[in-house]
Amino acid sequence: MSMFIPETRMQAITGTYNDKVVHQFAVATVFWGIVGMAVGVLCAAQLYWPALNFDIPWLTYSRIRPLHTNGMIFAFGGSVLFATSLYVVQRTCHVRLISDKLAQFVFWGWQAAMLGAVITLPLGITQSKEYAELEWPLDLLIAIVWVAYGWLFFGTIVKRRVKHIYVANWFYGAYIIAIALLHIVNNIVMPAGLWKSYSVYSGAVDAMAQWWYGHNGVAFLLTVGYLAMMYYFVPKQAQRPIYSYRLSIVHFWALISIYMWAGPHHLHYTALPDWAQSVGMVFSVILLAPSWGGAMNGILTLSGVWHKLRTDPIL
Ligand code: HEM
Repeated sequence: MSMFIPETRMQAITGTYNDKVVHQFAVATVFWGIVGMAVGVLCAAQLYWPALNFDIPWLTYSRIRPLHTNGMIFAFGGSVLFATSLYVVQRTCHVRLISDKLAQFVFWGWQAAMLGAVITLPLGITQSKEYAELEWPLDLLIAIVWVAYGWLFFGTIVKRRVKHIYVANWFYGAYIIAIALLHIVNNIVMPAGLWKSYSVYSGAVDAMAQWWYGHNGVAFLLTVGYLAMMYYFVPKQAQRPIYSYRLSIVHFWALISIYMWAGPHHLHYTALPDWAQSVGMVFSVILLAPSWGGAMNGILTLSGVWHKLRTDPIL
């Protein structure tokens, strides 16, 4: 975005905020976007022309599909959220990140974990849980980097110079806490060697833990994190206040308290107890309200400035 900010203001900002890590994650986003989608294209081509695995084990569909999903969600989608959260938290709190070294640790630690995924998944090293395929050494690295990220983000919030905590930071905060919780709980395993482990859960309980994770991973990373972006960048770029600040708070609490219970809808008509399936089904229906609340709040922020969509490509 820097090219749209006047230079004098940019100079003032560069000295005040840590934009290096934001820039690094922005570049990583483009890099992983190209890699992840290229692998997606190969996956798609293999669905039509299975021979495109060339009989090479590490090019088989079962190995490159998780490479695509992990690459898109964690390497690409994750880098977007690292970049924007660290950009937004500094601007809305009027303070620099608490530590440049910690920021570098988060960046390089995350890149190392993603590189580990690119190497181990094609080799067939997997826990066989969707979006949680990575084996325990990489899971451990991710947990450490994520806790460092939380420290960096919340530490900056604590040191803020404005009393109010802007709503985008509520959403970023919830996403950071929830992803830590989901990742750690679903990946508790008994290692059986460096690249092999067994989950502490079994049977229907394993399935439930997995889809509590899988569902809420999409919920808190790909939804709550991206709503955080929306709440900062849409009003900013449209030069309009959020349509309803009250609605943003109401749908925030509704979203995070309801989303966590909807996971069992991935396990309808399975060995999961009926009552758990019903809970998942009911909470999924109720979710309609807070998810539409967020979407409407974003869209209605544009009321009066719809014409800007014609001339402002950033918007
Ligand atoms: C060039 C663009 C893309 C192509 C060609 C592509 C292709 C594919 C293919 C072939 C599958 C597997 C479908 C199956 O097994 O039946 C898939 C799954 C998936 N892709 Fe992509 N993809 C692209 C972009 C993306 C992006 C941008 C994201 C997320 C930010 C993404 C996230 C996913 C996810 C989460 C799944 C798993 C879906 C599920 O299991 O229900 N993909 N993609």
